Amino acid sequence: MLSAPCSTGEETYSIAMFLQNLVDCKIFNFDFKVLGLDIDAEAIRHANKGIYETEKVKNANGFERLLERYTTPIMNPIKNGPELCQISEKIRKEKKAMFGVKNLMEPLPSRFKDYVDVVFCKNLIIYLNEKNKSRLIENLQTTIKKDGLLIIGASESGIGNAVFKEHFEYTGVSVYMKK
Ligand SMILES: C[S@@+](CC[C@H](N)C(=O)[O-])C[C@H]1O[C@@H](n2cnc3c(N)ncnc32)[C@H](O)[C@@H]1O
Repeated sequence: MLSAPCSTGEETYSIAMFLQNLVDCKIFNFDFKVLGLDIDAEAIRHANKGIYETEKVKNANGFERLLERYTTPIMNPIKNGPELCQISEKIRKEKKAMFGVKNLMEPLPSRFKDYVDVVFCKNLIIYLNEKNKSRLIENLQTTIKKDGLLIIGASESGIGNAVFKEHFEYTGVSVYMKK
């Protein structure tokens, strides 16, 4: 799967924790990887560390059990700084979630062609004009397998955009299926 843009990694880790939990609970048995991409190198450095303020992440609705299972409290080197937690090694070191710096306005490497099942592209389209929206979607669509999914943000839309129409079928609630 691809989480692009991923900013500081919260979305990417949430997807990875959700999938790992399905495997650990023996609901499904599959291998997966979630790759987070963003243009901001500083955000990617943060994402790679997988360290977050406990108070901020614990408000992630419905994720309490996953956070308990896949994060560890760590010491904050700043005296009187906020409590911190780190995404567990099972997710980070086993490379269930990985990160890279990438400008999504440029084509993705050819090794990613028809490679991913699901792309999460949330909260970027909303900032783009029609031309850049088309460029982004053209780049992302090359990586998605036939019948794979593109999931965008709740306040974003691809309806009315020619590139969306050419490559995707709208299946409802921000989800588009690759033709
Ligand atoms: C509002 S955040 C969305 C992050 C995440 N998808 C979410 O919903 O939490 C927008 C991100 O888009 C990234 N971004 C902006 N232009 C980009 C580009 N051309 N290529 C890759 N990332 C870009 C920014 O660095 C920022 O991290």
